[in-house]
Amino acid sequence: MRPIAQSLAAFLAALVLAAPARAQEVTVASPGGRNRATVEAREGRLYYSLTRDGRPLILPSLLGFEFRNAPALREGLRISDTTRAAKDEWWTQPWGEVARVRDHHNELAVSVEETAAPNRRFVLRVRAFDDGIGFRYELPEQPGMGSFEISDELTEFSLADNPRAWWIPSNWARKDRSEMLYSSGPASLLDSVQTPLTMETRDGRTFLVIHEANLVDYARMNLAGQRGESRTLEADLAPMADGIKVRGKTPFVTPWRTIQLADRATELAPSVLGLNLNPPNVLTSTDWIKPMKYVGIWWGMHINTMTWGSGPKHGATTANTKRYIDFAAANGIGGVLVEGWNTGWDGDWIANRDAFSFTQAYPDYNLAEVAAYAKQKGVKLIVHNETSGGIQNYERQMDSAFALYRSLGLDAIKSGYVTDLTSEGHSHYSQFMVQHYRRVIEAAARYGIMLDVHEPMHDTGERRTWPNMMTREGARGQEYNAWSGDGGNPPEHETILFFTRLLSGPMDFTPGVFDLLIERGTGRPRRPDEPRIRTTLAKQLALYVALYSPMQMAADLPENYEGQPAFQFIRDVAVDWDTTRVLDARIGDYVAVARRERGGQTWFVGAITDEEGRTLSVPLSFLTPGRRYEAEIYADGPQAHWLDNPLPLTISRRTVTSATRLSVVLAPGGGQAIRIRPVRGGS
Ligand code: NOJ
Repeated sequence: MRPIAQSLAAFLAALVLAAPARAQEVTVASPGGRNRATVEAREGRLYYSLTRDGRPLILPSLLGFEFRNAPALREGLRISDTTRAAKDEWWTQPWGEVARVRDHHNELAVSVEETAAPNRRFVLRVRAFDDGIGFRYELPEQPGMGSFEISDELTEFSLADNPRAWWIPSNWARKDRSEMLYSSGPASLLDSVQTPLTMETRDGRTFLVIHEANLVDYARMNLAGQRGESRTLEADLAPMADGIKVRGKTPFVTPWRTIQLADRATELAPSVLGLNLNPPNVLTSTDWIKPMKYVGIWWGMHINTMTWGSGPKHGATTANTKRYIDFAAANGIGGVLVEGWNTGWDGDWIANRDAFSFTQAYPDYNLAEVAAYAKQKGVKLIVHNETSGGIQNYERQMDSAFALYRSLGLDAIKSGYVTDLTSEGHSHYSQFMVQHYRRVIEAAARYGIMLDVHEPMHDTGERRTWPNMMTREGARGQEYNAWSGDGGNPPEHETILFFTRLLSGPMDFTPGVFDLLIERGTGRPRRPDEPRIRTTLAKQLALYVALYSPMQMAADLPENYEGQPAFQFIRDVAVDWDTTRVLDARIGDYVAVARRERGGQTWFVGAITDEEGRTLSVPLSFLTPGRRYEAEIYADGPQAHWLDNPLPLTISRRTVTSATRLSVVLAPGGGQAIRIRPVRGGS
């Protein structure tokens, strides 16, 4: 803001603040002026609201807290001061969907105080970006407030119309994870749902995504609706065993509550709002953090041809691991994950969570030997740490385990938290768990270890501050196609994931299963009503581009890739990107994405569809004009269909330029994967 505008704004704010008896109102607009957030104190209560182009999106919505053993911060509030700031800065990600990110926002800090004793104070800090807003509470150190216990955060999101929402439910008391199929319908129907919650206004003019950023020492937020009663969603924090949501002590800041905005679905991704609301990278060197593809002793356990525990089908043997390492080395795959290598898997490994050792290998697995073998072959051995939610058991061993891995040159861990409640009875998403996941990230960083976390805390942009926190699960992934009671993920699943879960950050979905009917090992093709992969083969390839992850698995058994021409795409596809463009999309129906590899000129396109076949007309205008490129196209073959004919795939090549419009034909449940490389001397 120019100085004259700044002093005018200050003067207007002073006028407003001079009249505490009436409503007090202050506003901050995004740099482009389209998004405006207003904070107002009315009859002692504090509210915020949000408009875009003057159209209300969030109506005045309550702010505040309830505490145990202290009065709520809800009534008798007044705005006592405001300050403003602005920022326009570019920063570079060590890895990501885009290399360069612009943090361009206007900030308004609203000081709020109670008019009666104990005269507690807090600041509501609001940042307005062109792609949405974020706000958080800051509780300064003060006589009237030291240690506190939050029993409820009162933040509301009062939706101006009844947008269509895509959601997964949440239920703190029962199954407390995120591995569910999405539903969609009017937001007024919502009960308790997880974030990111993606919505489209009824006139189709605006997409809104409610989520949170920089969750460090707080409970995870879900959203509670009132099922037809109103269109107001309320912050719903995950409880600890005693029902308290957050224990803290001033000075204290909450995570940011974020509302991402876009005019079109294609503009929702890549989403950087949450990254901009996290502190910059704290690691002095990030050279050791390397995106990679990996294979693993993993799918065999899910389809029952191998076991995690000891016995004749034990997957994690020294010999089997060497076979996987050889396969990775021969195919330019960077890593090998080995699950079931450590003692503790025998019996009910979920119930016996405290039995896991993170240093002691089964006798048929020589950790030092396979680590040395992997090193010699130039492949990273990814260590598996399933905790089953035995948090104290894990934390007791963490330092010695990480030190051991480090001494063997191992710098990547896949961890797991298969459980609903922790051993202590805390919600999977409680403050207790937020603190735990943070301690793991920080310990891993100290030991130079990259992380891929399954059953994780949802992603709130940690990777900006801690780039060793690479990827995570946090949604229904491929594994459900091996064993889920409902037959597996329906063909629309990934076209929703792209616009919901993936807006929070990368997902280790584990694509690339070629044995779609799971015939191998099990001896017969699975019937359509049995769990199996409900996509075509080409769609499995397209998922490498569509579903972003800096650690991207080739999930199938190595023998299922042998002799398969389609495997060449997995060998070639990049895992780190300079640029990402969503070319065409409709949430839940289809999406086509183009990404340019980091530091190179090669583009990859991935297009996926739901159960409907369709033809997309995709302009290649993202290519450099005047240059010739060769496109290698992995397309659904004749009569391909996810239900009864998923395997046909054709590979073709053609010359393309920025003027080319590709006709991308997708079979029902199908996809298309394309590599586009500049032709040498082809300009
Ligand atoms: C669930 C994870 O998502 C999966 O990848 C892993 O194989 C099992 N837990 C065992 O840790």
